Amino acid sequence: MLSDADDQQPANHPDHLCAVGRSDCHNRFTCAEKGCLPMLTTAEIQAAVRSAGLSGKPLCVHSSFHSFGPVDGGPDAVIDALMAEGCTVMAPTYSAIYAALPPADPGARPARNGWDYAAGVVPEPHGTRVFTPDSNLGNKGIDVIAATLLQRAGRVRGNHPLNSFTALGPLAEALVGGQAPLDVYAPLRALARLDGQVLLMGVGLDKLTLLHLAEEMAGRNLFRRWYRDSSGVVRQAQVGSCSQGFGQFARALAPLFQVDGVGESSWLIAPAADVLVAAAAAIRRDPEVTHCGDSACLRCQDAVAGGPLV
Ligand SMILES: CC(C)(COP(=O)(O)OP(=O)(O)OC[C@H]1O[C@@H](n2cnc3c(N)ncnc32)[C@H](O)[C@@H]1OP(=O)(O)O)[C@@H](O)C(=O)NCCC(=O)NCCS
Ligand SMILES: [Zn+2]
Repeated sequence: MLSDADDQQPANHPDHLCAVGRSDCHNRFTCAEKGCLPMLTTAEIQAAVRSAGLSGKPLCVHSSFHSFGPVDGGPDAVIDALMAEGCTVMAPTYSAIYAALPPADPGARPARNGWDYAAGVVPEPHGTRVFTPDSNLGNKGIDVIAATLLQRAGRVRGNHPLNSFTALGPLAEALVGGQAPLDVYAPLRALARLDGQVLLMGVGLDKLTLLHLAEEMAGRNLFRRWYRDSSGVVRQAQVGSCSQGFGQFARALAPLFQVDGVGESSWLIAPAADVLVAAAAAIRRDPEVTHCGDSACLRCQDAVAGGPLV
């Protein structure tokens, strides 16, 4: 609805005005590098969620908030839209700050673990923090929608010190309640069991964590890293591998993905259970399908060979 600010409307915006952009542009549009983009509202995102058939579904969301362009209400508006449609939203909320150094005892260091023990690599910040699911800390690099989800009242965070998932909504506990240090992908198995979908908002298959579970289903062991438990003892936790090559699943998975979106944000949506079956079959057919192509990538090398000897 245009208001008495209409008379400030620039000529190149016949229908809308700009609130936070250039000084010559006022009200409903905001300015981005490539020009003025419409500012999305929660209601518009909610309508897109509904029209994509996602209402009431449990979702594992991987996102680029930037892909939306300007959103009225910021990242919370995207979460609010999904909540308003009765979805349960889950996202990875990784936390390398809880990593510990590998144990000194060589016998406690799995071989073929995507880790060069001789190089003496030290996980950062290799402190003595102890994780609990109450923690609101995550990696700086996690997407802002996941980071925002982690701060929301009522969210449930899985019990994994390094690769937790966090969920909000009616099925949150059912999704992440089973996660444990040595069962990192219990939330994704629950997603598949509960007829959930994966939702890539402005990102590609290289962000699809579900494909790591497909690796496990195809017979690979998951890599082990280390954390400190509440008694200070260093223990192993499963983690995912390199995902830089996952774009190569496009041919095998394309028939399963629906393309949707809102505003500038393009979404890829698929049923988790079907993706798992198709991706595990693709890995069994050609184990190199997960390889990122970097011949020096120890994680890809060891994953293709079957993962750690545990
Ligand atoms: C890396 C990645 C996060 C980069 O995407 P991105 O859109 O640049 O990053 P974010 O989603 O964190 O959004 C950042 C944007 O939101 C903006 N933003 C952050 N907080 C905001 C707020 N409260 N209000 C408005 N805007 C905000 C930032 O300014 C930035 O916008 P800009 O690029 O225009 O400056 C994304 O590509 C990705 O990988 N997402 C998936 C992560 C994942 O699930 N990985 C799987 C586990 S391996
Ligand atoms: Zn790699």
